[in-house]
Amino acid sequence: MKISEVIQKMKDYHKGTVNGEPIDEQTTRDKILYGNPDQECTGIVTTCWATAEVIRKAHALGANLIISHEALFWNHGDHRDWLEEQKNKTYLAKKQLLEQTGIVVWRDHDYIHSGIPMNGGYVDGIFHGVMKELGWEDFLACDPVRPMIFEMPETTAEKIGRLWMEKFGLNGIKVVGDLSTPVKKVWVAGHILGGDNDKITKIDQEDIDLLITLELIDFTVSEYIRDSGLLGFPKAILGVGHFNAEEPGMKYMVHYIPEALKEAIPCHYVQSGDMYQFIEK
Ligand SMILES: [Fe+2]
Ligand SMILES: [Fe+2]
Repeated sequence: MKISEVIQKMKDYHKGTVNGEPIDEQTTRDKILYGNPDQECTGIVTTCWATAEVIRKAHALGANLIISHEALFWNHGDHRDWLEEQKNKTYLAKKQLLEQTGIVVWRDHDYIHSGIPMNGGYVDGIFHGVMKELGWEDFLACDPVRPMIFEMPETTAEKIGRLWMEKFGLNGIKVVGDLSTPVKKVWVAGHILGGDNDKITKIDQEDIDLLITLELIDFTVSEYIRDSGLLGFPKAILGVGHFNAEEPGMKYMVHYIPEALKEAIPCHYVQSGDMYQFIEK
């Protein structure tokens, strides 16, 4: 099967509409970010983002298609003109690596978030995958279309943090609030980027004990969580990071690629890996 057909079959497998509107091929982020799709697919690697190491590993595995969730060249829309103009050295080296390996990179962001088939409907492929990889299906406490709230027998922030580290191969986790915070209700809260009054209201009104966040700034919710604990409402945040939180969804993709393609093509997950390291006290 040609790489272009693989991409089309993956698109067809996903829901492909957002708020009732089909994903616009002109404006979607889900473009071929590099390479020639008019060649036989020798193997597929799924990952969160195609680092130089992921490209090398994909090549070593005999794969010539990487399906990544995030951009390849460090900007929204993967524009390369500015990098070409500036002769950016890292860009030129990454381009050379892609040329040498003959790898094609296709971004699957809008399609996978639009949905994968589940029980006659569709669910967000990334966050459904995160839930499945954690084994948290029985704890789901919100609409399964976007599984973000979980209620569980009482545990602690630290125990959940250690579970994420172990399951997802993380080097550590940034924590706001006390590690000993008792936890029954967890919210995978997405990006905390400012302008978060609605999130603070939700945390208060829905008695959220623990947030697991993608991007996380120091002001707004982080400040609020500290003050909550200091005023007798123990709460915590596990700031696992954007890519660390979404990557399990790309790991889970390996399970349904054969169903989507209806043809056996070797398929592997390569972790783009925790970009954070920690200096301990
Ligand atoms: Fe993302
Ligand atoms: Fe995403």
